[in-house]
Amino acid sequence: MAQRIEKVGVLGAGLMGHGIAQVAAQSGYAVVLREVDEATLAKGIGKIEKQLARAVEKEKMSQQQGDEVRARIEGTVHYRELRDCDLVIEAITESLELKLEMWREVDEIVKPEAVFATNTSSLAVIDQAAVTGRPSQFVGLHYFNPAQVMKLVEVVRCVTSSDEAFETALEFARSEEKLAIPTKDKAGFIVNRLLVPYMLDAIRAHEEGVGSAQEIDAAMKAGAGHPMGPLTLADFVGLDTLGSICD
Ligand code: CAA
Repeated sequence: MAQRIEKVGVLGAGLMGHGIAQVAAQSGYAVVLREVDEATLAKGIGKIEKQLARAVEKEKMSQQQGDEVRARIEGTVHYRELRDCDLVIEAITESLELKLEMWREVDEIVKPEAVFATNTSSLAVIDQAAVTGRPSQFVGLHYFNPAQVMKLVEVVRCVTSSDEAFETALEFARSEEKLAIPTKDKAGFIVNRLLVPYMLDAIRAHEEGVGSAQEIDAAMKAGAGHPMGPLTLADFVGLDTLGSICD
């Protein structure tokens, strides 16, 4: 049976973290969003406020609804504010070393029954689960950029994940009106296993002079119906993140 989730902690307010926090708040959850310093936190919260203002402007939500969503998000630079979260989702830099260091600290602070989830694009979920004292309550929740728009969340079960934690994560993603697709803890899960080699091949095609960057992108948009060409998509994901995934 799924655990009850009321308060969600999000670690990292960057490209993915700010979107994950916004989606959770829009779905009615109380959110604690943690960043390393006040300036980075303000940047992430600023992005959320901009998106909410745009949604109000476009009449997708009322001013009052926008204000309520914003009020559900509490920003912090301290892990201690996460202590009573029911679910903690990490969306920090794609570095195993940094993630392990962070989980070791967070695990000491957050209540023992809380579920932990990583938004990693490609690292093994089990490696992170294993440094916590709660490997059975550890899963992957993989969102796609922009998290506010993309329907999919891959829900990753690692060898230690309990049925209850996995069910909790599936239910949570569904409660955000996402398409929750269960998958295994295999490199790249479903989407990045297919999408990352595709983006790399686009770079190789460019190197071989098969087409200019504009032509390769235009070809895939017009020929395969993709919303973005692979090279634009690689920039959109971030070449730093793409590099980490490939490594
Ligand atoms: N943040 C939040 N919302 C955004 C946004 C952003 N960065 N960019 C666009 N949107 C919203 C817009 O506000 C708009 O919302 P409304 O319909 O409510 O008005 C909607 O998305 C459509 O935007 P636009 O009309 O401006 O632009 P578009 O129709 O070209 O769509 C797009 C933009 C959704 C990004 C589209 O180009 C797309 O789907 N691109 C592919 C994205 C993709 O493949 N993402 C996965 C990357 S891989 C990944 O994330 C996994 C990983 O681990 C690396």
